[in-house]
Amino acid sequence: MYGAEKPDGESERTAFRKAEKKYKLYYQHGSSKKKKVPKPVELSEVIDFEAVRESYEGKGELPDGIAVVECGFGWTSFRLENQPGFYFIPGALSLQEQGRWIRESLISFPQPPNRTNHNAEYGPINDLFLAARERRVLVEDRSPSQSGVPTSGSQAANESGLLWKFVDELDAKSSGNGQKSVAASVLLRKLRWSTLGLQFNWSQRNYDISLPHNKIPDDLCQLAIRMASLAMGPGEQFKPEAAIVNYFGLGDTLGGHLDDMEADWSKPIVSLSLGCKAIFLLGGKTRDKPPLAMFLRSGDVVLMAGEARECFHGVPRIFTDEEDTAHKALLEQQFSDPEEHCFSEYIRASRININIRQVF
Ligand code: OGA
Ligand code: MN
Repeated sequence: MYGAEKPDGESERTAFRKAEKKYKLYYQHGSSKKKKVPKPVELSEVIDFEAVRESYEGKGELPDGIAVVECGFGWTSFRLENQPGFYFIPGALSLQEQGRWIRESLISFPQPPNRTNHNAEYGPINDLFLAARERRVLVEDRSPSQSGVPTSGSQAANESGLLWKFVDELDAKSSGNGQKSVAASVLLRKLRWSTLGLQFNWSQRNYDISLPHNKIPDDLCQLAIRMASLAMGPGEQFKPEAAIVNYFGLGDTLGGHLDDMEADWSKPIVSLSLGCKAIFLLGGKTRDKPPLAMFLRSGDVVLMAGEARECFHGVPRIFTDEEDTAHKALLEQQFSDPEEHCFSEYIRASRININIRQVF
């Protein structure tokens, strides 16, 4: 699903790849010789649903190809006339809700038994965000108690049975002697996904129902069900069974893909955006159809159901630089308590996407 990038030369073979390349972050030399700056991108073709909503609510005007969806629950929602099954709800989440889901995404969602991209190398890691805040370091644990079974909450075994544990920065320095170690802050920056509910097995590209898992938290289920109703007929039900949380830092992208491992494609994928603004590409059933580009901002919700489920999509760009400062300042106010400084620091340069699915 998350295909690796093809070598140069192949990268512009399809209309979708061409668009990814157009929006991707490249650096170029700035006015001072040493410093590289982001290469400006042409954004005039990117649909801005926040502006669409302002113009619709203020003047009753809508751009060609975009229609309003009547829904009982108070948000102005839009659909694309040429992309049945795709819905966009700008600003669906209040700032308070955004703050809450950012906290959960960093504190509780990556907790075992939920799996993350770090599992394969380090085994389950407890309390990564707290460890990063306390500048702790994950070190290979060669203590004699090794039995392959973790003996304390902070220990983990990776797929080759090695144990790892968090220690204080100073202890990590003093123990030295060739022991492998990695700072929690580095692992946090490299956290790319976690999975809630039924666990997705990325190597086999399927849901592995034998893996231990917790249910998706109730409030997130309720939110997803409320949103999903927009894309479903009366009496139809959405059962949130799995969610993938994606974490994006500077320069991170999500390549064009289809989410095709769920049984019933008429059921929507409910996708929440948090943190930095991004560009989302929505293409067709093949990569040859030129995709539409749109901004995704913190608090926006997107639904992909029916035909839109069969369409390639991806995120070629997030904007971590100094633009969008007004939105960022509002979001950071949610973390104004000094204890929560670590959240604003993280989210200032990151984007989080939570997408919720019915699997069966
Ligand atoms: C996905 C996905 C979109 C986004 O995780 O499958 O399409 O907005 N995410 O990050
Ligand atoms: Mn997807």
